[in-house]
Amino acid sequence: MTLEANAKINLTLEVLGTRPDGYHELRSVVMPISLADTLEVSATDDGVISSDSPYPDDLCVKAAKALARRAPAPRRGARISVVKRIPPGGGLGGGSADAAAVLRALNELWELDLPRAALCEVATEVGSDVPSLVHGGCVLMQGRGEIVRDFGEYADFPLVIVNPGVFSSTKEVFAKCTSPVHEDAGIVYNMHSALQSREIGRIAAACVNDLALAACALHPEICKVMEELRRAGVENPAMSGSGSTVFGLVQGVAQGREICALMEAKGWKAWCVHSSVR
Ligand code: C5P
Repeated sequence: MTLEANAKINLTLEVLGTRPDGYHELRSVVMPISLADTLEVSATDDGVISSDSPYPDDLCVKAAKALARRAPAPRRGARISVVKRIPPGGGLGGGSADAAAVLRALNELWELDLPRAALCEVATEVGSDVPSLVHGGCVLMQGRGEIVRDFGEYADFPLVIVNPGVFSSTKEVFAKCTSPVHEDAGIVYNMHSALQSREIGRIAAACVNDLALAACALHPEICKVMEELRRAGVENPAMSGSGSTVFGLVQGVAQGREICALMEAKGWKAWCVHSSVR
């Protein structure tokens, strides 16, 4: 089975405090984007779960093993092959998107027929970003990442995403984040009405990321990307997840391509993409 695993951006990401389990309590509006990895997943009957991923902390195998534990059967195996386009360690949920695609594919190939809620439970074991990507579409993610609900369907909008090529460790960024515990439901409502308005300027202005300061302190290159995007005319560029990727909303594909060329001239990777729903 061939399937696309779309990356995500966090339009908003609030860190509300620490949890007894050592994780952080989050509230985040997560939006899928058109940048995607392509996966080839097949079921085998040799009992072996394997992936051709070059990354040591491959979430595809972790996801397949978590699903196999949920519905054990002898000799159930899987072969997974990934064409990577989403930069790893970039805050775009690349590894998590691949894992979510594996869960969806094997749920079908292994004929488990688990409902989405059960698949999201398995996803939580794999990583905090995986449940929202299994759910799909624009979602509000809460808790550690395990509480996911639909955030509505909106018109696609174009954006540029720029990756400075530094690997930002989620663990390190969270450890450095000193965001105060706060309750500001206004941030989510603001994003909701901005998305409904379809006004690029309003959506851009509603973007928030409580992890940006910590990530910029660890990787000053992220700040440079934001500065250069602003200089190129992007309003309120924002970081996705724990970085290092920065995104900026643009008026159209032509402006997006021009900005990508400017960013690539600085030695960074840049893509002109669009937000996508399901
Ligand atoms: O769940 P995941 O493996 O993606 O998380 C990576 C690291 O990010 C965790 O070990 C934790 O340090 C941090 N994290 C957190 N709070 C969250 C999600 C992740 O502190 N809600």
